[in-house]
Amino acid sequence: MTIVVTAATGLLGRLVLTELLKKGVPAADIVAGGRSVEKLSDFAGQGVRVQVIDYDKPETLTAAFTGADRVLFISGSEAGRRIPQHNNVVNAAKAAQVGLIAYTGIAGADSTTMKLASDHLATEAALKASGLPVVLLRHGWYLENYTDQIAGALERGVVAGAAGSGRVSAATRADFAAADVEALLSSKGGEVFEMGGDEAFTMTEYAAELSKQSGQEVRYQNLPTDKYAEMLAGVGVPGPFAEILADCDRGIRDGELHVGTGDLSNLLGRPTTSLSEAIQAAL
Ligand SMILES: NC(=O)c1ccc[n+]([C@@H]2O[C@H](COP(=O)([O-])OP(=O)(O)OC[C@H]3O[C@@H](n4cnc5c(N)ncnc54)[C@H](OP(=O)(O)O)[C@@H]3O)[C@@H](O)[C@H]2O)c1
Repeated sequence: MTIVVTAATGLLGRLVLTELLKKGVPAADIVAGGRSVEKLSDFAGQGVRVQVIDYDKPETLTAAFTGADRVLFISGSEAGRRIPQHNNVVNAAKAAQVGLIAYTGIAGADSTTMKLASDHLATEAALKASGLPVVLLRHGWYLENYTDQIAGALERGVVAGAAGSGRVSAATRADFAAADVEALLSSKGGEVFEMGGDEAFTMTEYAAELSKQSGQEVRYQNLPTDKYAEMLAGVGVPGPFAEILADCDRGIRDGELHVGTGDLSNLLGRPTTSLSEAIQAAL
């Protein structure tokens, strides 16, 4: 069995590799792919096969996918460039006739109006057209999108956003990674998993929990979407990406990242990590 993990150098990819090893998958069966393989030296030291995978270089994809039984295709992070990059991945997987390909997309990819989803939907369409056995791992929002910002929130006493009173079923990267591995190892192809945390919360509830646990007053300040995009750009987020992120908050406001399927906890076989636990760990 050869299992290839793309974008293995990223935070999610590394958690996936750790989870595969924890599940007892032999290190020699795992191919960890990344643009900078030196970032994977710790896994290479455990016997994981490490190989260059660059979504812009089709030859690296062909080399990595030849003989692959299962591929975990983790979405890239270069906004505006993902569609051609992801098409390269799908074309190479098809040419290599990989046994199964699982793709980490976005929750509600085929129903959401969020701009962020268009790359994911295009990738899902390309995967479908490939005729390969495909598993769609549609991820909700990472809890770390919030908890990574805790230091700044405590400093300012404010969490800003444009999510209004919308509920978001955020979950930790580690939970998504564990569920991805579960699906990757057990799926036969054709499954669609809509993944989100068991508990959906509003930004006001998030700020209240952060206040409670930190002992410092933090309030949620809601902004119109365009003002929030301006604010993000003002703190250094590149303009087009700031607009996409603000639009995600608009999507949250409209309930588009509220995932009620239970797919994530079903795959995990346990409840998802709660907001309270995630804040406690981050603090
Ligand atoms: N649901 C959410 O809330 C959420 C939040 C953030 C991101 N995401 C998505 O989930 C993915 C995984 O998340 P993460 O936390 O692991 O992100 P991350 O830590 O930023 O890692 C991104 C990964 O994508 C790789 N990558 C980017 N462009 C590539 C290319 N052209 N060819 C090959 N690899 C490429 C990066 O490689 P290098 O190490 O070489 O840069 C890295 O391994 C992200 O890429 C993004 O699509 C989802």
